[in-house]
Amino acid sequence: MFIRAISRSVILNGAREGVKDVKRLRSLSSFVSGPSDSSKQPFSVTVSSTGLSSLAAAARKVAPDEIQVIHSHEYDKNAVLINFGPGLQGKFTTTWLRDVCACPSCMNPLTGANLMYTADVVQSDHSIHDLTINKDSDRLFVTFNDGHMSQYSLNWLKDIVTNNYKYPLYEESSVFGTKKFPDRVLWDRDELTKFGLSVSWNEFMGTDEGARKALRHLLSYGVFFLHGTPPVKGTVLQAIRRISYEKPTVFGTTFDVVVEPAADAHIAYTSARLEHHTDLNYREKSPGIQSLHCIKSAPSGGDSFIVDGFNAAVILRNLYPEYFKLLTDNPVIFSYLDKPTNRWLREKWPVISLERGNDPGDRLREIHYNSLWMRAPLLPYDQMNAYYRAYKHFTDIMRDPKLQFKFMLEPGDLIMFNNRRVLHGRESFESKPGEDTSRHLEGCYADLDEAKSTFEKLSNL
Ligand code: OGA
Ligand code: ZN
Ligand code: ZN
Repeated sequence: MFIRAISRSVILNGAREGVKDVKRLRSLSSFVSGPSDSSKQPFSVTVSSTGLSSLAAAARKVAPDEIQVIHSHEYDKNAVLINFGPGLQGKFTTTWLRDVCACPSCMNPLTGANLMYTADVVQSDHSIHDLTINKDSDRLFVTFNDGHMSQYSLNWLKDIVTNNYKYPLYEESSVFGTKKFPDRVLWDRDELTKFGLSVSWNEFMGTDEGARKALRHLLSYGVFFLHGTPPVKGTVLQAIRRISYEKPTVFGTTFDVVVEPAADAHIAYTSARLEHHTDLNYREKSPGIQSLHCIKSAPSGGDSFIVDGFNAAVILRNLYPEYFKLLTDNPVIFSYLDKPTNRWLREKWPVISLERGNDPGDRLREIHYNSLWMRAPLLPYDQMNAYYRAYKHFTDIMRDPKLQFKFMLEPGDLIMFNNRRVLHGRESFESKPGEDTSRHLEGCYADLDEAKSTFEKLSNL
């Protein structure tokens, strides 16, 4: 009976999701100390330490909707084979099955910390004594030879096989216990106009659904707008803290985008036009989130514009794959002199970065684009001009009015966006420095993983 009492998410958490389901994880302890055999309901062939001549022979016995788990010492004592149904067969090493166990002896239910060093897991013998499956409760139960008992969700194991044993991208799957995040949606000017992506300040600050809605926009489209914000300093920090810890930079915990009279002022702190860019590319990791809050708009000018850099990159990839490759393959230097400390910050990034390694599709990961601080690229002679053409084409695509969403930030408006996806800029504006007609935005940065984490939490409430 207790098997049915354990919710499926406990097993999803068996993939070390973390501490959020501490209470439910604790309920596992009853299992680990040993369930009565009568609670197990095997429904299919279970082969334990038998002399199967070949796994293929066993596979033929499986009825279409049956799941069959095979552990054969003769074939491979270090593996468990699962037939999930016609055409889908997965194999797991016993070491991995032991490593991924999230019972209270393997993962501290109070902190979520692993209780065994991975290297020790590798050294130990993980021979299996017994296997049982219960399809109704979506469980594979394993008893190791040392008496340790573990359980796994069959569906979770199946998802891993279907996903080719790769960690999923956060948007794509619930494998490894991650919440399924909203799909990424690329946009152009007309689409963003249609979507709106606006949430009221009161809804955002006062309700979980409001914050969740805004974060869903941020994860899907890379941007959202708040309206009805108090047009006073400190508001942007409140907005960031609703979803994340703020990320201080050389510009401070928050920064005031105002016209500074100093001759050596950063161009952002003048009334000049700012071309499309992403901020802080010269950092080891540029902030994933940027927020700008309008306290005062300019008497005239100062319109904002944003463009979906991923959409522009996809267009470039489709039109000129060889240019796309040049921009993804060749890091360029971004550097910035921090005047108050007289230090150069310097980092190398490709203009377009892809998900590599486990990602099957070389999906877009991030954009680093800022002509102010990007230094001259360096490539072999015969690729140099091609690189410049690639850069120019990418820029032309971003500047296409059909891709750009233009808007005016008025007092009470706030924009929050993915600074490694959405490029932003502003038109020049009329300014009378020092006078209270002067334009004033307050900005703040944060990390994107925090927003994902908050979205996941709000989705589980
Ligand atoms: C910046 C910036 C935009 C604006 O400060 O990095 O892009 O509208 N500002 O002033
Ligand atoms: Zn365990
Ligand atoms: Zn900027």
